[in-house]
Amino acid sequence: MPRSKILYQCQSCGYSSPKWLGKCPDCGKWNSFSEEQRITKLKSQKTAEPVVLSGISASTGSRYTTEIKELDRTLGGGVVMGSVVLIGGDPGIGKSTLILQSLKGLTKLGRILYVSGEESPEQIKIRADRLRIKSDKIILLPETSLEGIISVAQKINPQIIVIDSIQTIFSLELPSAPGSVGQIRECATKLMFFAKKHGVPLFLIGHVTKEGAIAGPKVLEHIVDTVLYFEGDKGNPFRILRAVKNRFGSTNEIGVFEMQESGLKEVDNPSELFLSERPLNVPGSVVTVSLEGTRPLLVEIQALVTASSFGVPRRTALGVDYNRINLLIAVLEKRLGMHLGSMDIFVNVVGGLRIDEPAIDMGIIAAIASSFKNHAIDTGVFTFGEVGLSGELRAISQAGIRINEAAKLGFKKGIVPANNSNNMEESAIDITGAKNVEEAIEILMF
Ligand code: TYD
Ligand code: MG
Repeated sequence: MPRSKILYQCQSCGYSSPKWLGKCPDCGKWNSFSEEQRITKLKSQKTAEPVVLSGISASTGSRYTTEIKELDRTLGGGVVMGSVVLIGGDPGIGKSTLILQSLKGLTKLGRILYVSGEESPEQIKIRADRLRIKSDKIILLPETSLEGIISVAQKINPQIIVIDSIQTIFSLELPSAPGSVGQIRECATKLMFFAKKHGVPLFLIGHVTKEGAIAGPKVLEHIVDTVLYFEGDKGNPFRILRAVKNRFGSTNEIGVFEMQESGLKEVDNPSELFLSERPLNVPGSVVTVSLEGTRPLLVEIQALVTASSFGVPRRTALGVDYNRINLLIAVLEKRLGMHLGSMDIFVNVVGGLRIDEPAIDMGIIAAIASSFKNHAIDTGVFTFGEVGLSGELRAISQAGIRINEAAKLGFKKGIVPANNSNNMEESAIDITGAKNVEEAIEILMF
């Protein structure tokens, strides 16, 4: 007989407790506990046989292309058989569109089971028409019960399974509501077992909560093999697909898309796109080079420095870490003697990008200094480098790749950390090394 008991589980991280708690001791969230029922099966399990590592024959080449280059790259070179991929993102960002488009290329593998708990088959048909996808290999299943899905999957034996979205699926064995941590964990695990057993790739679509995490994020992230986040601004057509966990590839890769009338279009040269609307000869705009995985990305950083009309000046950071901005402002004040204490400062990475790499520090510093001094930086100039607390400009990785990308897009001059420029071979463009921010700003602005 299954033994069941009630327990309380944090809906954010999955921590469980026999009593209700106001604050989760694990993730620190308030008011996140709800009642769940845990079913403990007392069945004895068959134990696995130990095997010698060298005796295992594993085929590493079983990857399948989705025929969407940006998606393949983010996945680490295509879809791996039997892998579980979670695609997270805000509602309306284009997750269903992305997955439907990728199925077009994957139909050559065989039958695809598309489980939709959110939309009716008619709605999906309308989307497919819009994307010009016609295939008799895509089978739609408007079902939300886990048991129903598994029994259909056993019957039709699909080569790929898509669950859109995991939050709508529930198991009849659990009394808790769909979308709760217990349900998500149970459904994702059962589906994963099915996928691994039959060697079929499983795509799970997951919603992001208000706080910016996939509901029950920790719970899902450790179950699946790959976690991709689909990001972007609602008012902006650009979308970025980012790998945050990947058992089959690098997590630094990104894919760039543009949402158009007839679906997502791949962006082959994102740098060109991000710089396409750059205002020329305007103070506060600087181009810097970030590296996303193996790809250099030229981005424009804009800063606006204005006198504050309130006692406490405002600091706003879009696309970069807020604390990093404060740190860089402090460096500007101390090392360059700029009086920013009574100024409102806004910093934005253009195009809705989010960059966490310290290599763009120098770009941020230059943008703020340029706006503060009301002095435009030459349009053919770019800069990068990590800035330390004493104002030193630190070398960054892969400087050569970054400079080449800038040269390709027609930039004439680069201000880079001195240690990077010293270790460099001949470059097609004028590269100047700077040891610290004073030197760099001096070259950039005068
Ligand atoms: P959707 O894939 O439904 O988002 P999600 O599954 O992440 O909730 O995409 C929703 C948005 O994309 C919707 O606002 C309309 C837009 N869209 C286009 O602009 N062009 C298209 O070809 C499609 C299919 C959608
Ligand atoms: Mg959707």
